[in-house]
Amino acid sequence: MKITFHEATRLFRLENNQFLYAFFIDGQGYLRHLYCGKPVAEFDYSSLCDFGFDWAKTYLSPSGKEEIFSDNYYSDRSLLEVGSEGKNDKRGSLVAIRQEDGSFLTDFVYVSHRIYFGFPALANLPYAFAKDQEAQSLELTLKEVRSGLLLKLTYTLLGELPLLVRTEVLQNETKNDVEVRKAMSLELDLPDQGYDLLHFYGTWSRERNVERKPLGDGLTIIESRLGRSSHEENPLNILAEKDTDENQGSCYGFNLIYSGDFRMAANCDKSGSTRVLLGINETDFSYVLKPQEAFELPQGIITYSSEGFNRLSQTFHSFIQDHLIRYANAKAYRPLIFNSWEGCYMDFNTDKILSYLKTAKEIGAELFVLDDGWFGKRNSDGSSLGDWEVNQSKIDLRKVIDSCHEQGMKFGLWFEPEMVNPDSDFYRSHPHCSLGHEDSQKELSRHQLALDLSNDSLVDEIAASVNRILDSYPIDYVKWDNNRTIADNYSYHLGKDEQGKISYLLTLGYYRLCKKIIDSHPHIFFEGCASGGGRFDLGSLAYFPQIWCSDETDPVQRLYIQYGTSYGYPLSTMGSHVSKSPVSSYKTKADVALFGSYGYEFDPTKLSTEDKQQLIPNLDLYHDMGNSVIQNGTLYRLRSPFTEGALSWISVSSDQTKAIFLYVTLRKQNSSSRFIRLLGLDPKKRYRNSLDKKAYSGDYYREIGLNLSFWMEEFQSTLVVLKEEDYD
Ligand code: DGJ
Repeated sequence: MKITFHEATRLFRLENNQFLYAFFIDGQGYLRHLYCGKPVAEFDYSSLCDFGFDWAKTYLSPSGKEEIFSDNYYSDRSLLEVGSEGKNDKRGSLVAIRQEDGSFLTDFVYVSHRIYFGFPALANLPYAFAKDQEAQSLELTLKEVRSGLLLKLTYTLLGELPLLVRTEVLQNETKNDVEVRKAMSLELDLPDQGYDLLHFYGTWSRERNVERKPLGDGLTIIESRLGRSSHEENPLNILAEKDTDENQGSCYGFNLIYSGDFRMAANCDKSGSTRVLLGINETDFSYVLKPQEAFELPQGIITYSSEGFNRLSQTFHSFIQDHLIRYANAKAYRPLIFNSWEGCYMDFNTDKILSYLKTAKEIGAELFVLDDGWFGKRNSDGSSLGDWEVNQSKIDLRKVIDSCHEQGMKFGLWFEPEMVNPDSDFYRSHPHCSLGHEDSQKELSRHQLALDLSNDSLVDEIAASVNRILDSYPIDYVKWDNNRTIADNYSYHLGKDEQGKISYLLTLGYYRLCKKIIDSHPHIFFEGCASGGGRFDLGSLAYFPQIWCSDETDPVQRLYIQYGTSYGYPLSTMGSHVSKSPVSSYKTKADVALFGSYGYEFDPTKLSTEDKQQLIPNLDLYHDMGNSVIQNGTLYRLRSPFTEGALSWISVSSDQTKAIFLYVTLRKQNSSSRFIRLLGLDPKKRYRNSLDKKAYSGDYYREIGLNLSFWMEEFQSTLVVLKEEDYD
């Protein structure tokens, strides 16, 4: 890993063994993008910056003379690191401000730079981190030419990962207010068009479907305006060359360390190039920066792979596990969860939960989670959010926790700290605690309102009430839910010129709440959740090493969700449980759930002996290999349920001594020839597989494959364990 600046050519190279990112400062002071991809030794600027004609290359100087831009600058087609607003370049600006005179003209030029070992830390947003010498950063200071607003733009390399973290902070060191109307985190100008876009869309219970479509002429927008990263779209996006598949070809991955409204805009215009912008959604956005104030933008992530999507995903997975998740024990063995929700919903009492505990223990649970319904007067979703007091008449929480611990299980509890029911003591005693104006109808969703987290003192009060429970009971795990989108964006706490930053401040409030609750309980494992997978993003993962992937627990629906999610997020982050869903056998349910952070969620007292029998093999496997092979292994996708009628993938331990392979059919398949070629094994090692019980070399599995030429019923799963053994 190294970052260099070449004085004579004013060239920056950010490179490691796998990756090179390069740009230079031109004669105008613009940062001119040159390259993002596999390492190359040299650049020919005159060729890279030549677009073959002259008419857009001049400007009128203040003295009234027509001058030629230096360094072959074409205002509407040169590749840039920072696109301007209101100029001839219409591909989309990185930052747009409203000048004192009311115009939107925004144009940043280079002032200075420094290169250092380490990474930038943000005060109010989660950020990527590294051990001391594992990160190197280039910090540039740019100045907006008329207002004087500063942009601190930092690029960080993390060891040998083919990935770049882009950090931006706007600083107002002028004497006037500056109104920011748009502030994107990431810009990448690619010198070509004809890419395919992969985005991950869906809805509640059907999250992160993979759609691959050509990026045609004009503007393509992928966004969330729901106040959270959303079920509907994910900030993860991929651009791929046409012939790129899982294992070969070039692709670029983008993501944002942010959980609120976002926008990805890809523009293919007359220039022949493609501009990608990703950042905070600019709809209704306005941030008035007072003198001496700074505005932190979420970090943007760019990754590159010349070996297809599997490699790109593996880069994202390593990044998340090594440079994003803050929880100290994230890589340790995760106890097998039993969650009460789908078993009894809110219909429970102490005796019922005690009987659940006993039966959950018998089927191997190591952590029991009491879900929604234990607080206030909550027996339905119509009341009590905000009243974080144990409902003593319903549940003897201490007795339940003691019994859980006595049986050698850990104990977890559900919260939804960001929300309030109008039917709650908290709402009644806190006027204006929720979003929305009293002169208009506040839209309810699941009978609840979103709390106004732009108000720091309210955030602190909520944190204190949650912490009171966490500090009064020996709790090992928390499931942190969030069950509605944001609407009625009005805060009584904010002034007139602050309402335009409400969406950003609400997201900051979420992180403040996380810090106040999570950082003060480092021994507790926190799992995120937002009506299932409505907030599966890098901002949340910084605090929650695991997120409930979806409310859909039917294994057939689930395999699409977990497959789509795997493009950007490792298996360890996906909470996945065996449920009572009737569509398949318990074996299929257990096989699908195993490829994630494993658990159970049903009425354990109703499980038949036969169902229990089907859970035993994966229970043993989870103990033996769940941590080393699934949660900390390397994943290779082999067959896509979206396009190939089956899901197949393999996860391999980092030392390549063990692997677990899965194949699940969506339709009946007859016994015709079917060899699945396995990836990720060491070609020279020999592995015995649990299917035909024979041992073959890694290159045999790769070149010839595992023989699955047998009759398969619909939704039948085939799980195969591979273990290295010595050659005779
Ligand atoms: C939505 C979650 O996704 C479910 O798992 C469950 O916790 C409910 N909320 C509880 O209200």
